Amino acid sequence: MQIREIMRSCSVMPVLVIENVEHAVPLAKALVEGGIRVLEVTLRTDAALAAVKAITENVPGAIVGVGTVVRPEQFAQAQAAGAVFAVTPGLTPKLAAAAREAGIQLLPGVMTPSEAIAALEEGFDALKLFPAEQAGSLGMLKAMGGPLPQILFCPTGGVTLESAAKLLALPNVGCVGGSWLAPKDMVAKGDWAGITQLAREAAALRP
Ligand code: 3PG
Repeated sequence: MQIREIMRSCSVMPVLVIENVEHAVPLAKALVEGGIRVLEVTLRTDAALAAVKAITENVPGAIVGVGTVVRPEQFAQAQAAGAVFAVTPGLTPKLAAAAREAGIQLLPGVMTPSEAIAALEEGFDALKLFPAEQAGSLGMLKAMGGPLPQILFCPTGGVTLESAAKLLALPNVGCVGGSWLAPKDMVAKGDWAGITQLAREAAALRP
């Protein structure tokens, strides 16, 4: 599945920080049950790669990617765990080359027009705007859409259910990213029904 298709197939891409691998499958099942199938598991915890593997093997319907990729070798590790796409907070020539070599779909992060053009030069036209809120969010995306209409964005960072609705109405927004679908306290408590409810609200943003 191409990254644009993955983006268009979801409204919100939940940014997941999984500390305990035992939470991975019930958390992913709760999100999928609520209609959120595209999941970004951030490589910020020791459990992350095992979580990707567990979800890939046990949660039918989930489309699993990794996030917070900042080192070239992480693409191959993510692929070995079963990830089908990767998200980075920024882009360097080394990361671009490693993603191409691994053959994994990449959603690289940018924050400025120059970074967006550099990403286009590397062959990427589906980009994460990060950090979206600090970058100007709605106004920034409208402004970028003028000179760079070929780019499809996934704004991430400070996005809420309320701001997501406005962002998703823009023609150059494929989906949004956010951590609000899996709050730390709800995951710790195992409030999977509550997370399914949050997912339902997010999925309804793009019926
Ligand atoms: C992150 O880096 O954690 C993501 O950008 C999510 O940001 P958020 O917590 O503001 O949704």
